[in-house]
Amino acid sequence: MTLTPPTAGMAADPYPYYADLRALGPLFRDDESGLLIATTAGAVREVLASGAQTRPSDAPVPPAIVDTPAGRIFGRLIRMTDGLVQREVKAAVATALGRVTDEALGAEARQEAARLLAAGGIGPTALGFQVPVRVMAGALGFGGDSRGELRDLIADFVQCISPLSGPDAIEAAIAAAAELESRVAGLLGDGKTGLACYLRAALERPQAAYSGHVLANAVGLLSQTYDATGALVGVALVTMARYPDSLDAFRAAPVEYLREVARFDAPIQNTRRFFHGPDRLLGTDVKAGDAVLLLLASANRDPEVNPDPDAFDPARANLMSYTFSMGTHRCPGEEIALHLAAGTLRALLDSGFSPVSIDLAGLRYQTSANARIPMLA
Ligand code: HEM
Repeated sequence: MTLTPPTAGMAADPYPYYADLRALGPLFRDDESGLLIATTAGAVREVLASGAQTRPSDAPVPPAIVDTPAGRIFGRLIRMTDGLVQREVKAAVATALGRVTDEALGAEARQEAARLLAAGGIGPTALGFQVPVRVMAGALGFGGDSRGELRDLIADFVQCISPLSGPDAIEAAIAAAAELESRVAGLLGDGKTGLACYLRAALERPQAAYSGHVLANAVGLLSQTYDATGALVGVALVTMARYPDSLDAFRAAPVEYLREVARFDAPIQNTRRFFHGPDRLLGTDVKAGDAVLLLLASANRDPEVNPDPDAFDPARANLMSYTFSMGTHRCPGEEIALHLAAGTLRALLDSGFSPVSIDLAGLRYQTSANARIPMLA
């Protein structure tokens, strides 16, 4: 496969290519894609600290979903917006997430995974794309019976976030968004506990007019959990297959092990920013409309921030990771994600699954704009 900066994360080993890109410079313009490429840790930090925004100024919501339920949610997600409202809603999301316990969610993930494995017919990839999001649905306040349906709705909804989706996928995403809106509204009507209600409580004081934001960002907690955490489960299994001697380190300290996995083989390889006005960054002039691809996975392997970056070392000291981004949009779910993935993987290993059975030579990665999803059985 010919590697390009936006698609390298689908390759078996994109890391020598990322090293070549870093050698070209911290920030350069890629003529083929038209994107500016931030390759080093310093460049990624600088772009994230600049005024660049998460969406282009002429398309805050992708045109295909404007004026649809999917667009209504997308346009209010803190991940997809900038400014005062984003900051206030983000603070409320952090407050709400602070009311759940990472360890308890990890334990629930272990139980849920054990239950699904005992029922049979589920492989490791599917498990990663079922368990974390089901547990998050439970944390939002949904009862056990509906969690599988919510997972299916989210799998459809996230397709409206990917720039690679065609018309059928967009149609499914719009239908799923309408159903998700009504289910979260039902939850807010009935419930008093759970993340959706905690988010509403955290937003009540600043502004009553935030009700649409509560709904959208409750859905956002599910969508943000879904593919990134599923991808983390997958890349962790591949790492275990490559470094079977490291399994003891996982058993001893699963969350710390996964923190190094997330640095070493980032489940989210890149993110994007858009300039709404002219700027100058790292000696490069940028103009309004310029888009930057931030290679988070490459920044993690920059020797400037992580000595011996190509070594997988679960005991790494002073680990520096860009996988969860930084600055205004830094992921508020990092610890939760690590615990959910840890619980899922512990149950999988308890069930007798052996990572060394993974066929590394035949491994393929799912098509994705930014997630690194190994296709295991
Ligand atoms: C391994 C799993 C995960 C990875 C790799 C990941 C990564 C990221 C990244 C890179 C961003 C910021 C993107 C940017 O700056 O452009 C982000 C944002 C976000 N993540 Fe995560 N995430 C993960 C799991 C989760 C989970 C489990 C939750 C929910 C508890 C979550 C909630 C969020 C939210 C709400 C945002 C938006 C924050 C904002 O824009 O202010 N994430 N995540």
